Amino acid sequence: MKIQELQETAAAMTAPGKGILAMDESTPTIGKRLASVGVDNTHDNRAAYRELLLGTDGLSDYVAGAILYDETIRQDCPDGTHFPQLMKNKGIIPGIKVDTGAKDLAGHPGEKVTEGLDGLRDRLAEYVDLGARFSKWRAVITIGDGIPSRACIEANAHALARYAALCQEAGLVPIVEPEVLIDGDHSIERSFDVTVETQRTVFRELYAQGVAFEGMVLKPSMVISGKNASNRAGVGQVAEQTLRCLRSTVPAAVPGVAFLSGGQSDEEASAHLNAMNEMAADLHLPWRLTFSYARALQNQPMQIWKGHPENVASARKALLHRARCNSAASQGRYSPDMEREAA
Ligand code: 13P
Repeated sequence: MKIQELQETAAAMTAPGKGILAMDESTPTIGKRLASVGVDNTHDNRAAYRELLLGTDGLSDYVAGAILYDETIRQDCPDGTHFPQLMKNKGIIPGIKVDTGAKDLAGHPGEKVTEGLDGLRDRLAEYVDLGARFSKWRAVITIGDGIPSRACIEANAHALARYAALCQEAGLVPIVEPEVLIDGDHSIERSFDVTVETQRTVFRELYAQGVAFEGMVLKPSMVISGKNASNRAGVGQVAEQTLRCLRSTVPAAVPGVAFLSGGQSDEEASAHLNAMNEMAADLHLPWRLTFSYARALQNQPMQIWKGHPENVASARKALLHRARCNSAASQGRYSPDMEREAA
C-alpha cells in the first residue's frame, strides 16, 4: 500500500472543521444504551438506530468518517441500502472497529489487554472489500492503587502497534486508541503522568513495528481529573495539560489527533476541545486536533429517539447540533452560546 494513499485518507479523516462519529459499540454495549431508553437489543432496532445516525442530512458538513461495528458494515438499512453504500451516498468515510475487546490481563488483577490479533490480516482484507478505509483498536488503561503496571502498558502498546502495522499493510488508516480511563478519584497530575507514559510507550512500539506515523490517527483520552476526584480541574487546565502531554509524546509526522469523549458530559467534551484549539494557534501545533466521540455525540439523539419513528427527525436535529458544536470546537470557535441558540 502506498503511503500517499494512507496520508490522503488520514488527511480527509481530520479535515479542517470535521471529526469522526464513533458508532462502533459492540452488540452488548449498544444493548445497554438501548435498554436505557427502553428499546430491545434486536438486529432490526440496531439497524434502525444506526440508520437514524448515518441518514442525517448535513452530517458530512461536520463529520468526515464514522466507525462501524462488524454487524453494521454487513447490514442493510431498513430501506435495504447497504450501510457502506449509504455512507458513500452521504459523503462519510466508512471505518471499522477491529479489536475483539478488552479482556482481563493474566496475573494483573484490575487490568485489561485488548485482543483481536489472531486472524486479523484476513479480517482486514474482508473489511477492505466491504468498503472500509480506516480502522480502530481501543486499548484500556486503568488508573488505581498501584496500577497501571508496566506489563499492562507494554502489552497494550505492543498489540496496538501490531494492529496498526497490519492495517497499513492492508491499506487501512489505523486509529490508534490508548484510552486512559476517567474512572476513579485520581488527580489531573496522575492522569498526566499515566497518559505521558502510555503514549510514549505506544509510539516506541509503533516505531519498532515500522508503522508510518504519516498514515495513522491518534485517538487519545484527554488529561483530566478522575470522575470522582474532589476539586476536579477546570477547562483551561485540562486543555493545557493535554497539550503539554501531546507535545511531549506525539511525533510531528502524525497528521491528526481525534479525542474520545470518555464519559465527559456533551458540553464538557466540546469546551475542552475548543480550549485546546484556541491555544493551538500560538503553539503552532503540527497535528490537527478534533473529535472522535461516541457518547458525547450520541447521548442526546438516543434519549430523544426512544425507538419511536416519529422521534427520528428531532433525534437527527440533536445529533447535527452536537456535531456542529464539536466542529466549531475543532476550530476554536465554539461557545456555550451555541447551546442556548439551539434550545
Ligand atoms: P466515547 O466518546 O464514548 O468515549 O467513545 C469513543 C470510542 O470510540 C470508545 O472506543
